[in-house]
Amino acid sequence: MFSKKDIEEQILVIFGSNGDLSKRKLLPAIFQLYLNNLLPEKFIVIGTGSKDKNEITNREDVKSAILEFSPNSKHFDSKKIENFLNCVYYQRVHNQTETDFEGLKNYINTLSANLNIARNIIYYFSIPPFLYEVVANHLVRYGLNREEDGWKRIIVEKPFGYSYATAVELDQKLHTGFHEDQIYRIDHYLGKETVQNIMVTRFYNGFFEPIWNRKYVDRVEITAAEKIGVGDRGGYYDTSGAMRDMIQNHLLQVLAVVAMEPPAIFDSNSIRNETVKVLQALRPITAENASKQVVRGQYVATQVDGQMCPGYREERGVDPNSKTETFVALKAFVDNWRWGDVPFYIRTGKRLPVRVTEVVIHLKHAPHQLFKQLCLTHPNNMIILRIHPDAGIAIDFGMKIPGAGYKVQNVNMAFKYADLTDAKIPEAYERLLLDCMTGDSTLYARADAVRASWKFVDPIIQAWKEKQDIPLCFYKCNSWGPLEANNLFDEPYTKWCEPEE
Ligand code: BG6
Repeated sequence: MFSKKDIEEQILVIFGSNGDLSKRKLLPAIFQLYLNNLLPEKFIVIGTGSKDKNEITNREDVKSAILEFSPNSKHFDSKKIENFLNCVYYQRVHNQTETDFEGLKNYINTLSANLNIARNIIYYFSIPPFLYEVVANHLVRYGLNREEDGWKRIIVEKPFGYSYATAVELDQKLHTGFHEDQIYRIDHYLGKETVQNIMVTRFYNGFFEPIWNRKYVDRVEITAAEKIGVGDRGGYYDTSGAMRDMIQNHLLQVLAVVAMEPPAIFDSNSIRNETVKVLQALRPITAENASKQVVRGQYVATQVDGQMCPGYREERGVDPNSKTETFVALKAFVDNWRWGDVPFYIRTGKRLPVRVTEVVIHLKHAPHQLFKQLCLTHPNNMIILRIHPDAGIAIDFGMKIPGAGYKVQNVNMAFKYADLTDAKIPEAYERLLLDCMTGDSTLYARADAVRASWKFVDPIIQAWKEKQDIPLCFYKCNSWGPLEANNLFDEPYTKWCEPEE
């Protein structure tokens, strides 16, 4: 476990500090690190944005964001917030104005000299993707990437690119000023404690590994269901869709962790070498197969609990004729010895009935079903890795119902993190920021992994664009998405799990 002594003095610069991500996630996460005594003695955070604010108004804004978006903010000691605010600074920077970066450089130099802080700097790109390259160039132009006076790292938010080609191009551009070790591509799903715990579950315990393969696993189901619609992110979402927003990054990363081989040693490169192999082994879904292996959907206006829930096309910022998908279900295969022909079903959608993220490993039936006729529920076993909410693991298996005869019912043996005393699950951004501060990139996506996942999703997106006969299926809000998603299963009676919150 780290202590603040292990973390070098440093400066965190947030581009886009007045934006939603910064307010909802980054500032609360930094404050939580402060509360956990994990920020170095010498540390400052410099917010930047196009708004003209002075230090006082910025600190008021930061305080409001912390109070509004931190979990448990009601219990915060106000003195602690005030103390924390002493390390918060602001500089007006218009990202597209090159000369503003000269101002930023001077500001950083002055603060670093006055406060006697080394110029170890993280630049967090919490800005629209079209600005990644622009800001990186401006940093390079003023030598803000140079490491003579301290290390420099950039954290780049998702989406990293818009396709395989644009991701490669973005990499090339970033590499002109930063080497790979300086680039941290964030995928907050990798920062989730429960996603990391999949590795521990698999590689610490001897009894999961022998069954974690094609011999015993019938299929794997990965679901990320959200109750909310696109809210005020319609403008961004309409250019992205569920495939780019959730599958290309978060869910393929989860799949990679579920399917990876055990690394020989537990270090950043070995782990990332194994996850990337999974992504590279994904069987391509060709344009011909896109309609058989992928279902896309969009939510329509629906009456829910007496209230009208707007359809996607009525959301602010969305084209009224939009064909953007708010739901995707797909069947993928990992072509390697462990997983040959085991289907991985991935599903994500907005406006579904619950907010749940989970992985279900469906095990094969026992070879001879003695109790088939007497079984009240489904006869196969499941290992359920619950990522959110109620994070934990459950094993679902058949038990004899007490009494005469041999009636069998499935029961659930569950572990919940919440049952561990004192266990506060850190927010993904807390963990990821801390990792970058200490130079650990294990939970950040590597360039080859990002490329491999674009390589997998690109042909599907292309097929949707080009093949008019691939339908966009409409679904009601508060439903589990289009019924067509059930057609992805080979067995007629197999259906998606409908997890409860
Ligand atoms: C973001 C997506 O990356 O992840 C959002 O852009 C989505 O559309 C969110 O709602 C889901 O994250 P989480 O942590 O709430 O599952």
